[in-house]
Amino acid sequence: MKLRILIVDDEAAIRDELAEALDDAGYETARAPDGAAAAALIAAEAFDLCVSDVRMPGMGGIELLRHVARTSPETLVLLMTAHAELQSAIEALRLGAVDYLQKPFKQEELLARVGRLAEHRKLVVENRNLRRSLESSVADRAAGIVGDSPAMRRVLEVVDRVASLPSNVLIVGESGTGKDLVAHALHERGSRAAAPFVPINCAAIPEALLEGELFGHVKGAFTGASDHKEGLLRTAGEGTIFLDELGELPLALQAKLLRALESREIQPIGSTRRVPIHARIVVATNRDLKADVRAGRFREDLYYRLAVVEIEVPPLRERAGDLPLLVDHLLARHARKLGRPAGRMAPEALRRLAGHDWRGNVRELSNVVERALIFARGDEIGVDELPDLFRSVAPRDPEGPIDLREATRAFERAHVLRIIEKCGGNKRQAARLLGLGPSSLYRKLGDAEPSLDDAAPTPSPR
Ligand SMILES: Nc1ncnc2c1ncn2[C@@H]1O[C@H](COP(=O)(O)OP(=O)(O)OP(=O)(O)O)[C@@H](O)[C@H]1O
Ligand SMILES: [Mg+2]
Repeated sequence: MKLRILIVDDEAAIRDELAEALDDAGYETARAPDGAAAAALIAAEAFDLCVSDVRMPGMGGIELLRHVARTSPETLVLLMTAHAELQSAIEALRLGAVDYLQKPFKQEELLARVGRLAEHRKLVVENRNLRRSLESSVADRAAGIVGDSPAMRRVLEVVDRVASLPSNVLIVGESGTGKDLVAHALHERGSRAAAPFVPINCAAIPEALLEGELFGHVKGAFTGASDHKEGLLRTAGEGTIFLDELGELPLALQAKLLRALESREIQPIGSTRRVPIHARIVVATNRDLKADVRAGRFREDLYYRLAVVEIEVPPLRERAGDLPLLVDHLLARHARKLGRPAGRMAPEALRRLAGHDWRGNVRELSNVVERALIFARGDEIGVDELPDLFRSVAPRDPEGPIDLREATRAFERAHVLRIIEKCGGNKRQAARLLGLGPSSLYRKLGDAEPSLDDAAPTPSPR
């Protein structure tokens, strides 16, 4: 199998140099001078990998990455960033880039990275052919939602309580927190599990087609309606319809959806007949719908009709206690995909991960874990296999005590308290993350109130 690589850079000399090096290494390459040209090429033919510059006139690398993640998720993206663009590199991993190279880099460095990615790609393809991807995605889903933090346990409790009810459910939370998983769990843990689960992403379908998709149409209702279509609200039968990215639903369709929810009937486009719907409605959004209501972008009456039950999936940074569990789960999942042993994350690497703010939530973590697995040589994944930003220690606030020992103690205490807070007060989890025994944790806290402690034995005087 010859890997197909698209090279995107606005500087012809760099583009040509990289393409020639990769050609010589036995890859098949194509070249594009900017994001828009690259997007057009990717739409026309399949690429395994896209190596792109970040800053280009017109459509830049980040925008291209966003586009590729949406339209061609199979294509891996490797970004080349200048030193000053570290922020965009972080953003890139969050958006799904598999890796980034910091400029200037040596050709061998590029070839080494591409070599690893090629190996990875080969494994994925081989495995996909062995076990059809459907099978593995079912296995993934059955593995369910991982999380043992107080915040996540509350979410799962609500899921179990409302799974079998007919009430509409609104799932909110930042991007990548696991809203899709919660929607699936609502279906699978409830009485509708045997009926269809029909997801539809309101942002991914052009407005002109969305109405027909949701409500159906008769043959010839509009140009292109060459056949009768039932409408997904009806296809879902007695099951669940999941309207994802609901915040993007145009106002006209919001009105129509509201009518359908109130009357439990829909009228396909071009039809005079109304047909009943029975499905349970679950919707999700990462937008602040209340703010959208205030701004007139979202109908208030529809909001209240949908938010009968509202489930808020907390951001990952508010449930750091889940991090070790999630890392294990994601290692196993990606390893299964690659058909190799999962290995484990070294304690120091885990600590570095725990210090990150995870704006891209579990999706970002999943990308970092997958990347680490690709670059891991042995069974244990160390700090060196993490992206650069985890390798440098962030500079600390210089205010506070001057004496080094006092400063160290103050820092330790503040850090321990911060991690305990992240773990929702669970000191056992905090100790595990910090790599401390319960009694040393207590010692680090110095004169902190003992009532906080739930795991440590009686403190011994220092
Ligand atoms: N608690 C969890 N346990 C296991 N995997 C998780 C968990 N939460 C999220 N994931 C994984 O993280 C990725 C992102 O999750 P998901 O697609 O559900 O996020 P989302 O909230 O729907 O994001 P978006 O708003 O971008 O649609 C998926 O691969 C999912 O399997
Ligand atoms: Mg989603």
